[in-house]
Amino acid sequence: MSKLFSPATLRGLTLRNRTVVAPMCQYSAKDGFANDWHLVHLGRFAIGGFGLVVLEATGVTAEGRISYGDLGLWKDEQIAPLARIVDFLHSQGAAAGIQLAHAGRKASTPVSWHKDLSEAEKSTLGFEHWTPVAPSAVPHTDTNPEFQTPTALDAAGIRNVIDSFAAAAIRANQAGFDTVEIHAAHGYLLNQFLSPLANKRTDEYGGSRENRMRLVLEVTEAVRAVWPADKPLLARLSVTDWHPDGWQIEDSVALARELKARGVDAIDCSSGGFDGAVIKAVAGYQVHLAKAVRDGADIPTMAVGLLGDAHQAETILVDGEADFIALARAALDDPNWAVHANHELGASNYDLWPNPTDRVRERDRSLGLRSFAAN
Ligand SMILES: Cc1cc2nc3c(=O)[nH]c(=O)nc-3n(C[C@H](O)[C@H](O)[C@H](O)COP(=O)(O)O)c2cc1C
Repeated sequence: MSKLFSPATLRGLTLRNRTVVAPMCQYSAKDGFANDWHLVHLGRFAIGGFGLVVLEATGVTAEGRISYGDLGLWKDEQIAPLARIVDFLHSQGAAAGIQLAHAGRKASTPVSWHKDLSEAEKSTLGFEHWTPVAPSAVPHTDTNPEFQTPTALDAAGIRNVIDSFAAAAIRANQAGFDTVEIHAAHGYLLNQFLSPLANKRTDEYGGSRENRMRLVLEVTEAVRAVWPADKPLLARLSVTDWHPDGWQIEDSVALARELKARGVDAIDCSSGGFDGAVIKAVAGYQVHLAKAVRDGADIPTMAVGLLGDAHQAETILVDGEADFIALARAALDDPNWAVHANHELGASNYDLWPNPTDRVRERDRSLGLRSFAAN
């Protein structure tokens, strides 16, 4: 059996394989509520054989949403439609995760395909616009007016962020999720506190690396305190800002050690999110980041970023560069990526196909495909 399609255990959760659907914002919710779009979009990945499906960046507060179309978990009423999705993912053998997020100064941005909305359309889509909060009153960029100048969080605002992450984690557990991922990447709020590019504070949350790490560690402690001990906790980091004045790989290794000490079970290793980053996106361009964190902090990692080739994914795991392979766009392109990759890596059975799709095997036999190919 390939390593990619061997089971993996984190705490009390055993994944059927090591393929993960990375969180993907759909900008298709209204007032934070999941709907049929989310069920069908996410359900396809469970049918398609993935081990873990992680739901998109989900606002822990309304003001923490990237847009008015984000999912949310800031009120109890938002639990039930998410529980419906979790139940479906479970029914198809996939584990269910959700990314808990606060966008900070990158909040309240438009949904790109909602152009020139009429008042009636705004009402239908749940359009909202608000002033974001951030570590410092510095906008994400000066060149794009979609990003506003945020209000700097005061002590009460910071406390509210911590409490909101914990409250959302409690709701995620009530919805039945197997894991939550703390979003500390991509230039959103927790990443803004980590990075000297966005954090200009002079209190105990700014200045030294230790101070800049304080909020994400306090959020992690608060989430771990309410998240069941038998369920794994994930964190997504931008392992590097790809910027000479920003957060660096060695900073992430130091942070990952602290996260591990506070009960984080795996680090999802992404990168970037700040203006001025210089990124060369080629196949597997972030794999070395997963390896650096894995080796440096002795913690399981997820590799992500242009990883659609099954053999490359297998090699990453066999070579010990990462423990899980996460896909976003490749999964959008082919929601059955996992069942297909399993065959590519030599699976001789069709066990990963759901029963109602069994007749693919018959087709393959007739055409001499996959395990029926002539040698
Ligand atoms: C449509 C879309 C939405 C995304 N939304 C999120 C998100 O909610 N949270 C997040 O951490 N990353 C998000 N990402 C980034 C992906 O999780 C992933 O890290 C990135 O796309 C690289 O992987 P890929 O090359 O397989 O697409 C998104 C990516 C896409 C394509």
